[in-house]
Amino acid sequence: MPGRPGSPGLLRSVFRRHAAGVAVITARGEAGPVGFTATSLTSVSADPPLVSFGVGTGASSWPAILGTDHIGVHILGEHQEELAATFARSGADRFGPPTVWREGPEGVPVLDGVLAWLVCRITGRVPAGDHRIVIAEVVHGDPVSAGRPLLYHQGRFTALRD
Ligand SMILES: Cc1cc2nc3c(=O)[nH]c(=O)nc-3n(C[C@H](O)[C@H](O)[C@H](O)COP(=O)(O)O)c2cc1C
Repeated sequence: MPGRPGSPGLLRSVFRRHAAGVAVITARGEAGPVGFTATSLTSVSADPPLVSFGVGTGASSWPAILGTDHIGVHILGEHQEELAATFARSGADRFGPPTVWREGPEGVPVLDGVLAWLVCRITGRVPAGDHRIVIAEVVHGDPVSAGRPLLYHQGRFTALRD
């Protein structure tokens, strides 16, 4: 049972079956706030508290993430599908209405209405194919609400069934 040879299409097909929580990563850029929807967020280390996420080097947010020290991490609730879609849509005005945000610790844009947020200090940007794995240490945050999370599965946003 050799399966199929490795390829971008095989990776996509397999990860359609991988259900993931949905996050938005933000940063302060020279021309204003930037951010993107991400399912690659991972908790990496407890002490020191580290997270990681992957970011495409072709992403509009990448230059700001390369040029800054701090990033924001937001865990979206099941009611935030529209926000997730906005932060994934190329060319969208991601921080205009109806997005509600404020300047948080370290000048990082912090989104309103999320289940939880963190502000993290970038400690590494590891090359990985057409992405970079960003590693960042948690420096501020708030587990705002115990609401239900937004999920992504089979190419669409969804939620827990129970
Ligand atoms: C559910 C979902 C998860 C995503 N996860 C990531 C991710 O982990 N890393 C990443 O670089 N882009 C991810 N993207 C793509 C970005 O959200 C965004 O669409 C991409 O950066 C293109 O935006 P841009 O045109 O502003 O560069 C994801 C998109 C969706 C819909």
